[in-house]
Amino acid sequence: MAGTFFVTTPIYYVNDVPHIGHAYTTVAADVLARYHRLAGDTVLFITGTDEHGQKVQDAARRRGISPQLHCDEMVLRYRELWSALNISNDDFIRTTEDRHKKIVREVLAALHAKGDIYKTSYEGWYCVPDERFWTEKDLAGGRCPECGREVQQIEESNYFFRMSSYQQWLISYIDEHRDFILPRTRRNEILGFLRQPLADLCISRPRQRLSWGIPIPFDEEYVTYVWFDALINYVSTAGYRTRDREFFPFWENAVHLIGKDILTTHCVYWPTMLRALGLNPPRTIFAHGWWTVEGQKMSKSLNNVVDPVSLIRDFGVDAVRFFLLREGTFGLDADFSRTAFIHRVNGDLANDLGNLFNRTLAMTSKYFGGTIPAPSTPGDSDRRLQETAVEAVKKVHAAMEEIAFHRALDAVWELVGMTNKYIDESAPWSLAKRAGGEEQLATVMYHVLESLRFIAVLLFPFIPASAERMREALGIQEQPDSSSLDSLRQWGAMMPGNPVTHIPQLFPRIET
Ligand code: MSP
Repeated sequence: MAGTFFVTTPIYYVNDVPHIGHAYTTVAADVLARYHRLAGDTVLFITGTDEHGQKVQDAARRRGISPQLHCDEMVLRYRELWSALNISNDDFIRTTEDRHKKIVREVLAALHAKGDIYKTSYEGWYCVPDERFWTEKDLAGGRCPECGREVQQIEESNYFFRMSSYQQWLISYIDEHRDFILPRTRRNEILGFLRQPLADLCISRPRQRLSWGIPIPFDEEYVTYVWFDALINYVSTAGYRTRDREFFPFWENAVHLIGKDILTTHCVYWPTMLRALGLNPPRTIFAHGWWTVEGQKMSKSLNNVVDPVSLIRDFGVDAVRFFLLREGTFGLDADFSRTAFIHRVNGDLANDLGNLFNRTLAMTSKYFGGTIPAPSTPGDSDRRLQETAVEAVKKVHAAMEEIAFHRALDAVWELVGMTNKYIDESAPWSLAKRAGGEEQLATVMYHVLESLRFIAVLLFPFIPASAERMREALGIQEQPDSSSLDSLRQWGAMMPGNPVTHIPQLFPRIET
């Protein structure tokens, strides 16, 4: 049954230069969005940029321009990258937009009116780069426990959100909702964290120290803490308080994809904020792992940051999308190296899939003048191929429900492998030479073509541009009855007599 589906990425810090880590979350969200659209769901897919805070203010000051102008320039890198990566987001939110700021202020006012936000004087250690307060006992050897940098002692009055009063509720909620925090290891991590008493959350910064933020509506001497501002993007963009009738059906089926480093903010701050507002938490928060580069942390100081733009330029967008989701297990860390990249693309895309596609269409053109032949009654091996294809659809579906992209691709590659084997064993080239072999030749070629249809449809969310070329070559691109997910319920939608086109080189081999 088709329904609604809402998927988000974190909103990225506008100052950062986008790298494959950012591309990873966004491609993953795009694949989910495209899969659900293919399944007939009404989808809302949102990404965007996180534009307030100290670092942005400082960077703009160093450049001698206004923070807004700075953001307006920086945001283009993300927009351009998403366009180069074929990202199909329905909206792009910048936290400096009025539509977002308005809702943040309304949320602050509502929680203040309810007594969930209060003001108190606070003394603590402040980490400027992380923009976070720490208590004495949080510190690691007198330094920031998160980044290890120096901290400064600060005393000031600030506004706090009564997060502590939602601790028990949050623990029970996580206990009762097995799919709320995924993978399971992350859920355990949060439950472990919640064994300690939860403190209230400081959600303001004095304006004299930080002016680049959203002013607090009931005290304009303060601006909102960036995380409080940023998290609200997930509801402000989707129409909370402005288009509630559209918002709620999406919100019931919301999935936040995040990296493992931002687990606490998403799984502790955010659900308690929502609870205070009387909203349910999103259905699922899935935290993926990190990319390392040749076994090392990816960082500016190590000068090993992988630029997705140059990868796309060198190898094509679908090779990049494919590698990101095929190489690792979604949820665990994965390692990037140029060798692994080339190996993957050459092995899976150029050899297994590209050759299968190429030889099938070349043979269809040679033996049947480029039209789909009519099969006769299938034999055992033909039926085995049919079953593998139908099975692959079920496996992909189950994997996508669990946000296990690697398992979905495994299932498709099982079918690719099986189809190649089927060709080798049926040897159409021998059937073509054998007197009376025409009928079996037609059956074999029909089966291979139909299997390719399954493969093209299943791969569409992952490698949309290439899958589109496959669908075009197979002549099914504008036919929902043979190019939707629904059309894969049954074997045999390819119409004998229809033309197919031979396109060579679906995935060129990368020469090293
Ligand atoms: N602005 C916050 C998110 C606010 S969401 C309400 C933020 N931005 S970020 O730009 O620093 O990071 C965004 C995402 O990129 C995170 O999910 C993070 O995990 C991901 N990655 C950053 N480096 C990464 C890798 N090396 N590998 C994989 N993902 C990584 O945090």
